[in-house]
Amino acid sequence: AVKQRIFSGMQPTDGSLHLGNYIGALSQWVALQDSYDALYCVVDLHALTVQPDPALLRERTRRTAAQYLAGGIDPERSILFVQSHVAEHAELAWLLACQTGFGEAGRMTQFKDKSAKQGADGTTVGLFTYPVLMAADILLYDAALVPVGEDQRQHLELTRNLAERLNTRFGEGTAVVPEPHIVKAVAKVYDLQDPTAKMSKSNAGGKGVVWLLEDPKKAVKAIKAAVTDADETYAVRYDPETKPGISNLLTIFSAVTGRDVGAIAADYDGRGYGYLKVDLADAVVAFLEPFQERANTYLSDPAQLDAVLADGADRAREIARPVSDRIYERFGL
Ligand code: ADP
Ligand code: NA
Repeated sequence: AVKQRIFSGMQPTDGSLHLGNYIGALSQWVALQDSYDALYCVVDLHALTVQPDPALLRERTRRTAAQYLAGGIDPERSILFVQSHVAEHAELAWLLACQTGFGEAGRMTQFKDKSAKQGADGTTVGLFTYPVLMAADILLYDAALVPVGEDQRQHLELTRNLAERLNTRFGEGTAVVPEPHIVKAVAKVYDLQDPTAKMSKSNAGGKGVVWLLEDPKKAVKAIKAAVTDADETYAVRYDPETKPGISNLLTIFSAVTGRDVGAIAADYDGRGYGYLKVDLADAVVAFLEPFQERANTYLSDPAQLDAVLADGADRAREIARPVSDRIYERFGL
């Protein structure tokens, strides 16, 4: 059977991904590689909305790609590439921008939140059209499925609306309408200092974030300092409602070892949270060390890494080119 095409990407906004990015996105992508025709992209054009320093952006793009590889994305089985290397992304975004209502784009909650923080003059038109570029990323490959977290759901809905609009205005078959690929019970990772907030690069202080490329000693410190609860029986069970801190530690433990959450919980139930933390810290270090070794191997040979990305861009372009031609033609261009 023909495999369904799936597209996903992350921005190169930091020097490192964090454990939430790995567990919630990257490790899921790796698991999808064989069952789907997968494209995994470092979306550097999206990162421009925060106006990064050019040298830093280039460095972060390489580091993000190296982490995709270190996490298990296999460029033989998936297409791994950098968004800006395929010019059709930016080109298609313009066509789609001209099909998107101003009010429609203005209703995107992520735009409303971010622009409220930045003020009218601090907010770029790029931030406003960001979801249109995301729609171009997806429609350019006729992607059938897009793995998305809750925060991207509204943007994917816009993509679907645009695809349907194109098919209405320019004829059936102009665009493929993508479906969200929601992996059931996709592990969400919470901040170790505030287990009710998503682990995120934007968390103030950052003491509850584990970065994949940071010194593992810092991860150990963060895990040992993790906020738990005042339950005097030291009950260890997966129960995000009443035991968010412990549940988060179990999620991480399970993700880095592949062990079942219930089995891990049984091992530590009633023994005192210190035991759980010490062993989890060891397990995270055992995950981070080889991960960092692999990432550093890719980063120590930028020419080889660039060659992998250039090959990925060639393969992505082979898919994008005819799709772009088809849409241009339908538009009368
Ligand atoms: P951040 O929240 O640090 O800004 P992004 O929004 O760039 O991270 O997310 C990139 C990818 O990682 C998305 O697919 C997102 O759903 C996933 N992700 C980010 N944070 C988490 C988390 N704490 N738990 C699970 N998945 C996450
Ligand atoms: Na986010």
